[in-house]
Parts: sequence; C-alpha cells; structure tokens
Amino acid sequence: MAHTLRIGILGAARIAASFVAGARQSARVDVVAVASRDVARAEVFAQTHQIARALTYEQMLASPEVDAVYIPLPNSLHAPWSIAAARAGKHVLCEKPLALSEEEALGMFAAADAAGVVLLEGYPFLFQPQTLEIERLVAAGTLGRVQTIFAACGFTLSNPDDIRFDPALGGGALLDAGCYPVSFIRQLTGTRPVRVSASARWQRGVDETLTATLEFANGIIAQLSCSFASGLHRTALITCSGGIIETDYSNHTARSSAPHFRLRRGSDWRNETEIVPVPREDGFRAEVDAFAEMIADPGSESLAARRAASLDNAWTLAAILAAARG
Ligand SMILES: NC(=O)c1ccc[n+]([C@@H]2O[C@H](COP(=O)([O-])OP(=O)(O)OC[C@H]3O[C@@H](n4cnc5c(N)ncnc54)[C@H](OP(=O)(O)O)[C@@H]3O)[C@@H](O)[C@H]2O)c1
Repeated sequence: MAHTLRIGILGAARIAASFVAGARQSARVDVVAVASRDVARAEVFAQTHQIARALTYEQMLASPEVDAVYIPLPNSLHAPWSIAAARAGKHVLCEKPLALSEEEALGMFAAADAAGVVLLEGYPFLFQPQTLEIERLVAAGTLGRVQTIFAACGFTLSNPDDIRFDPALGGGALLDAGCYPVSFIRQLTGTRPVRVSASARWQRGVDETLTATLEFANGIIAQLSCSFASGLHRTALITCSGGIIETDYSNHTARSSAPHFRLRRGSDWRNETEIVPVPREDGFRAEVDAFAEMIADPGSESLAARRAASLDNAWTLAAILAAARG
C-alpha cells in the first residue's frame, strides 16, 4: 500500500474507544476522523481520543481525507451505512454481526463490488494467533476428526436502554453475543449447517438467553449458547476422535497475563492437559492490519474466505432466530 490507510469512525460508540486503542498500535492505519449524529458528541470523542476531525456521518462519507470507515453502529444500521459508505468509495470494516440476513449481506457485498472497495466483517478473535493456531491444528487433523463443538458467550446486561434490548436495532443475545460462537463454529466447520434447532427465553421482544444445535453435512454437530442474563463467560470445547481443545477464543489475548488454550490428547484420564501458550495480541490491531492487507491485495484468498464466512454467518444467525421463534 502506498500510504497509511486513513480510517474514519462512523458513530461515537462505546466500542469505538477500544477500536482506537487497538488501531493506534498498527503502523498500517491512522484513525483520522470520527462522526456522530450529534457533532458535539463527535468533538468530545475526538478530543478524548486525540482524533483530528469531528464530522457528521454525511461529511465523513464525502471526505476525500478518509479512505475507509469503521462502522460500530447498532446492528440494524450495519447494512444501510455499509452500502452508503461503499457507494461513497470508502472501504468498510463493519462491526459484527455484518447483517441480519444473508440477503442483506449479499446486498452489502454487491455495493462493495460495484464500488471496487473491500467490505470486511469485524471479528477481532478471528485474527488472533490463538484462533489461527487452533484452526491450523483442526485442519491438519492433529487430534483426528472433529466430532462436536460447543461454544458459548454471555454476560449480564443491566442497562434497559442499551441498543441490545431494542428489537428494531437488531438487538438480542444471539446477534450480540451468540454471533461469536456462531462464527467460531463456522471457522472450524468451513461451511453453514444443514439443520438448525434452537430454544430461547424472550424479554421485551429480544432473545435474552438462547441455545442452538447446528448439524453439518460432514457429520459435525455443534451446540452454542448465549445470554444477557448470565455471568461473563466465553468458552469453547472442540472434541475430536483423538483428543480435545478448550479455548476462550478471546478477542484480546493482550488482556490476559498468560494467554493460552488447552489441549488433551487421546482418551485416557491420566493424559495431562497441555497448556499451549499463545502470543499476547490486541484483536483490533490484528484486525486493522488484516483489513489493510486485504485492501492492498483485494484478490487475496483470505478476503474471499472472509466473505464466504460472513454469508454463512448471516444465514445461520437468521436460521437460528427463526428456529427459536418456532
Ligand atoms: N468487536 C467487539 O468487540 C464489539 C464489542 C462491543 C460491541 N460491538 C458491536 O459494535 C456495535 C456498537 O456497539 P456498542 O456497544 O459500542 O454500542 P453503542 O455504544 O450504543 O454505540 C452505537 C452508536 O451508534 C450510533 N447510532 C446511530 N444511530 C443510532 C440509534 N438509532 N440508536 C443508538 N445509537 C445509534 C451512536 O453514535 P452517535 O450518536 O455518535 O452517532 C451510538 O454511539 C454493535 O454492532 C456491536 O455488536 C463489537
């Protein structure tokens, strides 16, 4: 790439503060602007995080000084603003979940293709060395054939005004927290499920707690759970014919003093669990580096793989919600 990728943030969201902290650690990108529905809020965010420019959304998309936008908007606004940004010629790094349906995701990729820009769904954990190493072990068949995957993510959501409780904004535990286990499972199966079943407890029109079973054509059966009403957790267990892997598939291994995953070979209780250390990494730094790399090489296999995964994820999330509604 000829110059540093100049990123603007669309929305003074809470997660945008963590994004800026991670992006600052990258030599490949600069966060040059932040936009808000209320420019005064953008100004406060810009001052707090030492960002040069505070704009409206429309000014951001029209700015020749912005190459790419990071979209941390409520889930239902990911599609319209990703499409608007692509049409304005900006590369798009959109927060997870990319879309509320596969149809919506296809529309977003069509807009990106028409404008010749890159669209990437932001999942920091996917770019972590920890995830890449687990993927490598599974693909290499080091522990034999994958039999089942269980993945979970949840926390307590106490603010009743949070966007996550608003069905019109794409709220709910599945779309907010459950999209992590869905994408982790998809990363290891490499495909979408052929059969989906799900159960949920509902509150105020959104799924507060949800579990789902996903069956895959290659025989893998996966289960996931997510909740807004539980203690904080994020964990996954991959069982294989020759052993198991346990992981927290962290977004930010840098927040742990000794990040690792656990691996046990064979089927004997006497076998020791191996603690496999992984590098400490801010997931947003890894994510923006990967984004800049994909923009520099838009024909790359990794970009095509991420698109296929995003379409499968969008399809699966919608199928799970439909199954849970019954
Ligand atoms: N990757 C991760 O680790 C991670 C973590 C948390 C969240 N996320 C994702 O990031 C996104 C934002 O989450 P968040 O927790 O940061 O949310 P948030 O603090 O509520 O921020 C959302 C922002 O969207 C803008 N917005 C535009 N229209 C809005 C509307 N009608 N209602 C509310 N806000 C509106 C607001 O910015 P302005 O008022 O400035 O325009 C608001 O600050 C979600 O998609 C979520 O899934 C990702």
